[in-house]
Amino acid sequence: MTSEQARQIGRLFDTLAPEYDSVGVEFFGPIASSLVTALAPRAGERWLDMGCGRGAVLLRAAPVLGDRGLAVGTDISAGMLEACHDAVHRAGLTNVALHQDDAQAPSLPAVPGGFHAIASSAVVFFLPDPAAALSAWLPLAAPGGRLGITTFAELDPRWQALDRLFDPYLPVDMLDARTTGAAGPFASDDGVEELVAGAGWAEVRTVSDEVEVRFASPEHWRRFSMSTGQRRMWALVPDDERQSVVDRAFAQLSADSAADGSTTYWQRFRHTLAVRP
Ligand SMILES: C[S@@+](CC[C@H](N)C(=O)[O-])C[C@H]1O[C@@H](n2cnc3c(N)ncnc32)[C@H](O)[C@@H]1O
Repeated sequence: MTSEQARQIGRLFDTLAPEYDSVGVEFFGPIASSLVTALAPRAGERWLDMGCGRGAVLLRAAPVLGDRGLAVGTDISAGMLEACHDAVHRAGLTNVALHQDDAQAPSLPAVPGGFHAIASSAVVFFLPDPAAALSAWLPLAAPGGRLGITTFAELDPRWQALDRLFDPYLPVDMLDARTTGAAGPFASDDGVEELVAGAGWAEVRTVSDEVEVRFASPEHWRRFSMSTGQRRMWALVPDDERQSVVDRAFAQLSADSAADGSTTYWQRFRHTLAVRP
């Protein structure tokens, strides 16, 4: 049964769906491209994308899988799935199926032979019990099927300083390592590898990559932050303090900016790859 925590995350992403990954900042797209490359799709394969969102992974993998292949996307958020459905339709893809489902305990229809690859980009740290979820995904893969989960690694210290402006307003659980990366399984390559291996996956390894993220202006950063999970943090800042947070953030973005007023920060990320024994 879907937990209240998972339902709350679903509602957050329902709110984010119209703007998510569509405010002109290259972030989730390049990360998904890198995951698809690491998982090396082949024509005719069956893929499952857990927490597909607006389709960052699906839209890149499905054309390679082709007419004989299948790309299944699941997400807990009806809003994200609706946006994904529109994007799939616009791209003219006919080998994609979408289901509303909880990645913590998937109940999607069985696919004969299992999936050749299970991808999940920027999702597992939202799950109430990531280790149990990764175990539950194992039987969905074909024997020898590949897993690729993407989580965040080091962040440009200047971008980190912006995030810290929210710290005084956050409850303790939002400082949790799964989202801050400061401690716990998502703090290191080894931590995520242990999580995946402990769930029964074999040949576990890490591929690291980095994205450069350009904000055309401080306001562009604000819009981006409102289109991601950081929107939760904005909501926790009291009304009478919000302008002060905006002013301090904008001052820092301006101090970090290039001559054209844009600011570019980097974000490292890791794909933890494995195989079903
Ligand atoms: C940061 S977004 C990533 C979306 C997409 N994979 C991408 O790379 O753009 C996280 C996604 O995970 C989904 N999600 C969070 N918890 C989930 C759960 N328990 N089951 C399924 N999806 C979940 C959210 O609805 C959201 O679409």
